[in-house]
Amino acid sequence: MDRTFVAIKPDAVQRGFIGQIIERFERKGFKIVGLKMLKPTRELAEKHYEEHIGRDYFERLVAFMISGPVIAMVVEGKNAVSVVRRMVGSTKPHEAEVGTIRFDFAQVKEMNIIHGSDSIENAKREIDVFFREDELVDWHHDLELWLYEK
Ligand code: TYD
Ligand code: MG
Repeated sequence: MDRTFVAIKPDAVQRGFIGQIIERFERKGFKIVGLKMLKPTRELAEKHYEEHIGRDYFERLVAFMISGPVIAMVVEGKNAVSVVRRMVGSTKPHEAEVGTIRFDFAQVKEMNIIHGSDSIENAKREIDVFFREDELVDWHHDLELWLYEK
């Protein structure tokens, strides 16, 4: 099982899509093992997006991420990193596949609704940026009986 990091961004929170977005991950059968609302500090947002430091969009990206609350989530399941990334869709919503979260809810890359980790290494790093170890919940997902071959 993989774990990935998901952030529901301030635009999605403001537009009232928290429930609909979380619902997609539940419907797919993923297990949520961490979930919280927070208003990120500048330091946290810069750390999360540190690979983008120096890009012309960096300041605007950080300002957007700290402009309102986000929902931070840790999602676990088979191939969670790659599958969640596909559910999220391409960075530019107009180029994302129809049916992806970004295609279905967003129009421009500057407000593209959601973040999903792009690799197992980045998922680990991003989970670490947003969550303390004791905030992640170890629980048995009874649904797995009907999701995964024994
Ligand atoms: P990136 O990691 O390239 O995209 P993704 O979120 O799909 O992993 O970029 C991180 C975020 O930075 C992206 O979601 C939106 C923002 N961004 C811009 O505002 N302008 C840009 O040109 C790029 C590449 C990203
Ligand atoms: Mg990225």
